[in-house]
Amino acid sequence: MRKIPRLLQAVLVIGFVYAAFVVVFDVFLEQVIPASLLTMYMFFVIAGVFMVFTFTEESTRELVAPIKALVEDPSRKAIRNIVFAVLPLAVAAYTYFSTLPSYQAPVELRSIHPAPPSTVRAFEKRYDLLTLENPFRKYEKEDPEKFKQLVVEGGNVYTSNCQFCHGDKLDGKGPYAQGLNPVPLNFQDVGTIAQLQESFLFWRIATGGPGLPKEATPWSSSMPVWQKFLTEDEIWKVILYLYDYTGHQPRSWQHD
Ligand code: HEC
Repeated sequence: MRKIPRLLQAVLVIGFVYAAFVVVFDVFLEQVIPASLLTMYMFFVIAGVFMVFTFTEESTRELVAPIKALVEDPSRKAIRNIVFAVLPLAVAAYTYFSTLPSYQAPVELRSIHPAPPSTVRAFEKRYDLLTLENPFRKYEKEDPEKFKQLVVEGGNVYTSNCQFCHGDKLDGKGPYAQGLNPVPLNFQDVGTIAQLQESFLFWRIATGGPGLPKEATPWSSSMPVWQKFLTEDEIWKVILYLYDYTGHQPRSWQHD
């Protein structure tokens, strides 16, 4: 049996590792690997592979032999011409398509969902929004009965506190809504909670309009500071209710 050329070996190893990363993340961890992380991993993998493959002069020579042959060997003129024509064209096409502007209108001019700070203070504690999770979310799978009960309790919190502004159908059309600017958000709309993480909602509900960072100006929001009136648990439950009623799924970091 002929030995696989070293260059092909290197490419195969790199391709295999790449596929392994993607498969491991996708199938076993059920997460999409962030592109920047993948780039970083692959940088080290490629660097590592080339270190191993160029360890001795002998192996370096074997590795570059096919490239050298392609460039120098007179019998490969035809292939050489094809490669030298196709390669620049491929790069040109890639560059062209990646810089092509998209004519879609910007979704929102004012930042309705301002970037959250990475940590927030509420209930006299400091929360790390990157890791904060809804403590009740796990019951959706583990104990559906209990989860249903929690959603009902969240619904009660909503009815007695939030519907005046956000509406009894969660569509932002509560009786007070007309007089407010900015208007209370419509949670049915795919542009609101469907795009957000539960930790983001926790922050917004606990600290309300006054908790908004400066980029949310010029309007001042009437959204109350709920940490003054509700407990932490009540806030987490009302969040369960918002997603349950609207049928939206909270966003999670993995699918960003
Ligand atoms: C006095 C009216 C009012 C009440 C009552 C009120 N909100 Fe709001 N809420 C607003 C307004 C106005 C906004 C939009 C401006 C902003 O983002 O602060 C808003 C925004 C929000 C947001 C941000 C959503 C997003 O997509 O960024 C959440 C979450 C929210 N409210 C949840 C609640 C919950 C839960 C309650 C009840 C516990 C509640 N609100 C009660 C007026 C109100």
